[in-house]
Amino acid sequence: MVNLLSEFIFALWIIMPAYIANMFPPLAGGKIPIDLKRNWIDGKRIFGNGKTFEGFGLAVFIGTLIGTSQAYLYSYVNNYTIEFSATRLPDMTLFIAFAIAFGAMFGDLAGSFIKRRIGMERGADAPLLDQLNFVVGALLFSYWFTQISFWMIIIIFLVTPIAHRLACMIGHWLKVKREPW
Ligand code: CTP
Ligand code: MG
Repeated sequence: MVNLLSEFIFALWIIMPAYIANMFPPLAGGKIPIDLKRNWIDGKRIFGNGKTFEGFGLAVFIGTLIGTSQAYLYSYVNNYTIEFSATRLPDMTLFIAFAIAFGAMFGDLAGSFIKRRIGMERGADAPLLDQLNFVVGALLFSYWFTQISFWMIIIIFLVTPIAHRLACMIGHWLKVKREPW
């Protein structure tokens, strides 16, 4: 029998640097697009104006900071979760936090690359792709360095679309984000 409570807490523990990182690009006020305004062979932008160096860098920095703070809290949180979990809390270090945050922004970039290739304009609503691109990237980059179970991945894929949509609506309402998605 899987312990869903500990799988849920461990899933949030691992994905937290990506969640927080992904809230920050709109606050960077980025000006320099990562594709340097260049087009792909199809004549459309590689990533578009929504993906800037400043947004990418700020998100990776903040995500690494959050994960490093988690690393400092590791034994405290582990002592708490060990009460109801058979396994210890998944590893978190500065390096793992960087891998998660960098992976998240890489996934976000890959999502925009796909959107441009299928002809979607910058900011267009791409259900599931917009919500999951960054967690797929984060999981791919951190998979080899921390303990992620099958159930944690399922939980992350179920929780993220809802959490992402809510966060975007709040961001739009606070006038930080252009679109409410
Ligand atoms: N952003 C940024 N740099 C990044 C990612 C995001 O500067 N690497 C900023 C941009 O201002 C962007 C905003 O965060 O408009 C919201 O991000 P997102 O919704 O991912 O971008 P979109 O504008 O919707 O562009 P796309 O259609 O390519 O996803
Ligand atoms: Mg968007």
